[in-house]
Amino acid sequence: MRHLMSPLDFSVEELDKLLDIAQDIEANPAKYAHACEGKKLATLFYEPSTRTRLSHEAAMLNLGGSVMGFASADSSSASKGESVADTIRVISCYADICAMRHPKEGAPMVAAQHSSIPVINAGDGGHQHPTQTLTDLLTIKSLKGRLNNMTIGLCGDLKFGRTVHSLINALVRYEGIRFILISPEELRLPEYVRHDVLDRNNVPYEEVVRLEDALPELDILYMTRVQKERFFNEEDYVRMKDFYILDKQKMKLAPEDMYVLHPLPRVNEISVEVDDDPRAAYFHQAQCGVYVRMALILTLLDIHVD
Ligand code: CP
Repeated sequence: MRHLMSPLDFSVEELDKLLDIAQDIEANPAKYAHACEGKKLATLFYEPSTRTRLSHEAAMLNLGGSVMGFASADSSSASKGESVADTIRVISCYADICAMRHPKEGAPMVAAQHSSIPVINAGDGGHQHPTQTLTDLLTIKSLKGRLNNMTIGLCGDLKFGRTVHSLINALVRYEGIRFILISPEELRLPEYVRHDVLDRNNVPYEEVVRLEDALPELDILYMTRVQKERFFNEEDYVRMKDFYILDKQKMKLAPEDMYVLHPLPRVNEISVEVDDDPRAAYFHQAQCGVYVRMALILTLLDIHVD
């Protein structure tokens, strides 16, 4: 039995295979429509979500399976003090696979240790968000045709943004990747990611504050929201929240074949006037999230479709 806690749980070969399945699902959805008949997915969300929870559920429904779950800790027995370990033992009696989001780093790992069904980490605190990374990789591959030899700009809240941490972990395994880290001083990428992931893998990167300085060099611009829920005081959040706003004027500085990704939700960091730009790929990215989660469910349940 396998779980997904981090994008590194899959080798590059396994990841490539999973992305191939996702692309086949996109091209031939009918082929997969009954692949999970009789299987149940439980979504255990202790923290708010729109895309991650509903795209997991859409994925299982598209595969012919069924779904159950809770959308907040308040509507589960966590509010009465039940532990994650006890909850997952119980859910293992009801479902075949589960996706868990939790505000505490490591909570899905605790669940995996006590589970008899595959557990998918659907985001744990400021730590990892591996299914978002699978989504991002599929989106980049579908737009650029490759995952190597690219300059990727990561912009915004690089300190608390778990999607950024997971994406860096995954992309450093491909040849010719270079990062431009675009953030205010207070929201720089944590030292443990810069040192343990970028430096240790000899991946070139530079840190800049101005988005305008980075834009002309990028193949992919990955925008992120300032993570209000991870700040300790409102004042700091208010000071940081509109530090970057990508608008039409700034898009003029970007190459014609640069794509803008964003894990969403956005707040102000991408102006809605950018949505009509053919390089705005964030809604396509949300659609890719369903295909890749279908491929992930099949992989973790060891279901093969000819
Ligand atoms: N991208 C993402 O994780 O969105 P949700 O918080 O809506 O799931």
